[in-house]
Amino acid sequence: MRVLVTGAKGQVGSEIVAEFDRRNSGRDSRTGFDVIGASHEELDVANRDAVHAIVRTLAPEVIIHPAAFTAVDACETEIDRAFSVNFVGTRHLAEAADSVGAHLCYLSTDYVFDGTLDRPYREWDDPNPQSVYGRSKLAGERALDASSTIVRTSWVSGQRGANMLKTVLRLLDQSDGPLRFVNDQHGCPSFAKDLAPTIIDLALSRLRGVFHVTNQGPTTWFDFARTVAEFAGANAGRVEPITTAELVPARPARRPMNSVLENAALREIGHALLPDWRESAAQLVRQLNG
Ligand SMILES: NC(=O)c1ccc[n+]([C@@H]2O[C@H](COP(=O)([O-])OP(=O)(O)OC[C@H]3O[C@@H](n4cnc5c(N)ncnc54)[C@H](OP(=O)(O)O)[C@@H]3O)[C@@H](O)[C@H]2O)c1
Repeated sequence: MRVLVTGAKGQVGSEIVAEFDRRNSGRDSRTGFDVIGASHEELDVANRDAVHAIVRTLAPEVIIHPAAFTAVDACETEIDRAFSVNFVGTRHLAEAADSVGAHLCYLSTDYVFDGTLDRPYREWDDPNPQSVYGRSKLAGERALDASSTIVRTSWVSGQRGANMLKTVLRLLDQSDGPLRFVNDQHGCPSFAKDLAPTIIDLALSRLRGVFHVTNQGPTTWFDFARTVAEFAGANAGRVEPITTAELVPARPARRPMNSVLENAALREIGHALLPDWRESAAQLVRQLNG
């Protein structure tokens, strides 16, 4: 089976390619996966001709699409870029997938919700994004046809790329002073290495519709940072809680105060849920510090 993965050098894209490599190892080459991981340099999804050319040439059976402009605050000012990559780029892929009969699996975000619910968000709750990033990703969801898979995840960390776990480790290393993290935004940290196998399972099964896929265990950024500090053997007492209103300077993009995603659809189909985030955070800290 031939599979095309976009944004293959990103946090999630690189783990998807690595997971296919693991699945291929030891397999008969006639039954394995022929995986083409296209990096941003190799495929700009905002370029319609390039998207159609690669899809026509490779004729993949499945396309997994984690590529996105993910700099949430930068999206507030680079609005055209946000929509041209996250919305229009996704529409190009939907169109191209349709032309060769490929199944498309799109990665989306908890930021499609406004965060005002007092319980975890289920797949069928109404989105109401509060940021340009969230609006552009929701527009991407809406550019897909009904047969596509949409995987919404949240608060992603991985070995590659920039993420909050790496930021915490860097800040702990840089100074001895207090580190302040917000204690009033609630979400589920997720790990690229845990996400990849489930994304692949959903894509290969051609399961249609929205799936919330996160590691288990809601938390706040403050608790996340303090836990990461403990795992790193640093003085966790340096991590102090603040409110979003106390952040200086205030972040340009509004974040949902609650973006805990209930993995209801995953549970419904009987697929294993991802492990507790603390387990995977401990593992990633060991890897990065090791
Ligand atoms: N990170 C999170 O916390 C988070 C949370 C919820 C949902 N998600 C979603 O999950 C998916 C994967 O996120 P991630 O954390 O892996 O993001 P990431 O590390 O930023 O990876 C995204 C990749 O897309 C590439 N890209 C950007 N513009 C592109 C374009 N025009 N054409 C092709 N590739 C392009 C980036 O390349 P460059 O770096 O070279 O631009 C990067 O390699 C995204 O769809 C994101 O919206 C992420």
